[in-house]
Amino acid sequence: MAHYNLAFLGFGNVGRALAQLLESKRAELRERHNLEFTITGVAARRLGWHANPGGYSAAELLHGDLGTLTARSQRPFTDLAALRDWLRATQANVLFENTSMNPHTGQPAIDYIRTALEAGVHVVSANKGPVVHAYHELRDLAASKGVRFLHEAAVMGGAPIFSLFREALPAARLLSFRGILNSTTNLMLTEMEHGAGFDQAVKKAQDMGIAETDPSFDVDGWDATVKVSALATVLMDYALKPEAVQREGIRGLTPEVLSTARLLGRPYKLVCQAERRPDGTVAASVRPEQVPLDDPLARCDGATSILLFQMDVIHGLTLSELHPDAITTAYGPLADFITLARRR
Ligand SMILES: NC(=O)c1ccc[n+]([C@@H]2O[C@H](COP(=O)([O-])OP(=O)(O)OC[C@H]3O[C@@H](n4cnc5c(N)ncnc54)[C@H](OP(=O)(O)O)[C@@H]3O)[C@@H](O)[C@H]2O)c1
Repeated sequence: MAHYNLAFLGFGNVGRALAQLLESKRAELRERHNLEFTITGVAARRLGWHANPGGYSAAELLHGDLGTLTARSQRPFTDLAALRDWLRATQANVLFENTSMNPHTGQPAIDYIRTALEAGVHVVSANKGPVVHAYHELRDLAASKGVRFLHEAAVMGGAPIFSLFREALPAARLLSFRGILNSTTNLMLTEMEHGAGFDQAVKKAQDMGIAETDPSFDVDGWDATVKVSALATVLMDYALKPEAVQREGIRGLTPEVLSTARLLGRPYKLVCQAERRPDGTVAASVRPEQVPLDDPLARCDGATSILLFQMDVIHGLTLSELHPDAITTAYGPLADFITLARRR
């Protein structure tokens, strides 16, 4: 039986759902994967650092007052030296990095991940920023330290995209991909086709817990753009920065335009695509486009996401994720944890 100490950096929607999912799968991990774990640390911006090598119970983490956890070490959130001290105090084998994304630089998450890898700690992250801005460096650093940097949840939450190409498609060359990658805007387009105004559609997405309080990051296409960059960087081995993706959001679309387009059989979708050019570079865009009804993208309504892959050996391989919730996203890090434990 292998045993891992787990530390959580960032404890919002994803971190909490992951703690809950790990606890609910504890027996299954033991019986099917010979895997035991103890959660020995939790840290976040306002929470500070908490460490307890004896372990926290899921109930303490999820329902207790984290500010008053019995902790051997509680430090203010200051610098990387404090992060090193916290990692030592937690005796962590795996760091789950689930802090907020910075689309422009990937920081400070890149520094957090680099610090953990240098200390010989595996890192599992749901954060797209470090994938887009430092994937190759972090992957190589992890390899040099004999640990892993895995990030399945960074795009389409629990859907196995990165692991699919890494594990199941070892000799396939990805030529292009196309899909819908932002739940908030897809839900808004569906709502507005049925007559909702822009603000009503935003509110519906917020009420469902999929849109931020400030939805402009989704509405202006940034979230989808960063996901396209992450996919191109890892799956096409081409470091495509978000600024190099042609980007247009959905603000120009009115309920009238959307419902008419749907009635005429060519609904609008916020289409993400990337294609390898003959010179080896990758061209990519995120923009509203009308799609015919027999296009798989036309059938994706609400919060559903979809990706179609064109490879040199397989054409039109398609993955979709119907109405994902917080546990769907948490499945990505859980699967990464099992993956890294298998390779010990
Ligand atoms: N939510 C999803 O469905 C989803 C899906 C896929 C990927 N992701 C990615 O997963 C990550 C977490 O998302 P979330 O929805 O859990 O976000 P969230 O609910 O806003 O939680 C973010 C957590 O990170 C902490 N944090 C933020 N910035 C920090 C910093 N600089 N240093 C230390 N702690 C920091 C926050 O602490 P404070 O509360 O004290 O600020 C909070 O505990 C993001 O990168 C997101 O893009 C999310």
